[in-house]
Amino acid sequence: MKDKLTLTRRDFIRTTAASSVALGWLGAGQAPKVYAAEAAKPALLGGTPVHQGGWISWPQWREAWEPELLKVWRSCHWFRGSAGHVAEFERGYAKLLGAKRCLATASGTTALIVSLHVMDVDAGDEVIVSPYTFIASYNSILANMALPVFADTDPATLTVDPASIESRITERTRAIMPVHIFGMPCDMDPIMAIARKHKLAVVEDACQAWLAEYKGRKCGTIGDLGCFSFQESKHIPSGEGGAITGMSEELIDKCDSYHNCGRAVGTNKGSGSFTRGNNYRMTQAQAVLLMQQFDKLVKETEVRRANADYLSANLGKIPGITPVRLPENSRPVWHLYSFRYDAEKFNGLSREKFTRAMGAEGVPCGGVYREQYYDGLLDEAIASRGFKRLWSAERLKAYRDSFQELKGNKQVCETTVSFGQNMLLADRSAMDDILEAIRKIQAHSAALAKA
Ligand SMILES: Cc1ncc(COP(=O)(O)O)c(C=O)c1O
Repeated sequence: MKDKLTLTRRDFIRTTAASSVALGWLGAGQAPKVYAAEAAKPALLGGTPVHQGGWISWPQWREAWEPELLKVWRSCHWFRGSAGHVAEFERGYAKLLGAKRCLATASGTTALIVSLHVMDVDAGDEVIVSPYTFIASYNSILANMALPVFADTDPATLTVDPASIESRITERTRAIMPVHIFGMPCDMDPIMAIARKHKLAVVEDACQAWLAEYKGRKCGTIGDLGCFSFQESKHIPSGEGGAITGMSEELIDKCDSYHNCGRAVGTNKGSGSFTRGNNYRMTQAQAVLLMQQFDKLVKETEVRRANADYLSANLGKIPGITPVRLPENSRPVWHLYSFRYDAEKFNGLSREKFTRAMGAEGVPCGGVYREQYYDGLLDEAIASRGFKRLWSAERLKAYRDSFQELKGNKQVCETTVSFGQNMLLADRSAMDDILEAIRKIQAHSAALAKA
């Protein structure tokens, strides 16, 4: 059962986008509103909500996309092999990212499954992964009959702490999967150095990080392969959909074969015409919908960035609110905008009550990921016949016990508060509303804590 506060990220995005009155495109740069913070009573205690009028709903539709989509449907060439749109999308997405190649897939999950397989993650191997992520990161490793071994989360960045990786490497470790969670780049230099030192593959989970940058390179082009999701909640959605990006022709050809029932592709001939593989293909209509959103993605990314920078600069001035620390020379894309909440600086007002009070002010927010390694799926995996065949009872027990070492991740799960990306597409005065709502709640936190 979901706890009250920790929605899944998708529920969370749906909640923040649902029942929203669509706002006009107001553009950033207007004069900020001026509020008398202490004067107003919190909405939860009967006052007037700070933010009125809702938020931009998500996903969005444009009538201008209809003719191209209709053409695809009317052509009756819908599957990947019957027309060129998917390949055209791949060229376009690779160009957008500065990747040498891109392969479209059915989803972000299948992009991860394919990438791990191609990087030779096999039954009985171990993959070091960030625990603070959507459950698909864990599941893609389990799908390859490998063990997701969790490095710890750095509470300052919410991404994997590179210093916690090396101690988790065993002779079975084949790969590292850093997750650029909420579109915030992981600190890739130390991660790549560890991978090179131990000859491990790096599969970037960039499923929330379209156009995010680390030291001048786009996330998804730094490791051996990078994986993206275009599921409905994402910044560039097509209902379902995914992509793998990389700088190696050979690796992407291997991904292509594996995602296309094992058919020989390019440099990947296999021993006959087939290698191992499954069907993880994208359809023509998904590709056409995605291509039409390239410009929108680029423009909206800049709006989100400008608003997030404004929030970070001002939230840092509120005691008890800590914006995330970003790796040097990195540019996140803010799939969610997150900060750490310290209840002590709010007269002991719990995070749950804080987010409820924010919601009443018209500013929906919440915690996102809980300590999912206790949710049962890993217990189910390690109790399975297959896993018992592949690992000793001692290893599986030590693995289960090691979850307790994830102190940074526990702290992050308990103290992080996030807003949906759609809120970052509003105008500057709406950002002032967010700030004002927090200040107002802080000013009245003693009363709210008692309520
Ligand atoms: C971090 C992360 N990894 C993997 C996935 C899986 O992507 P998909 O839902 O397209 O399978 C998602 C999607 O929500 C994600 O956010």
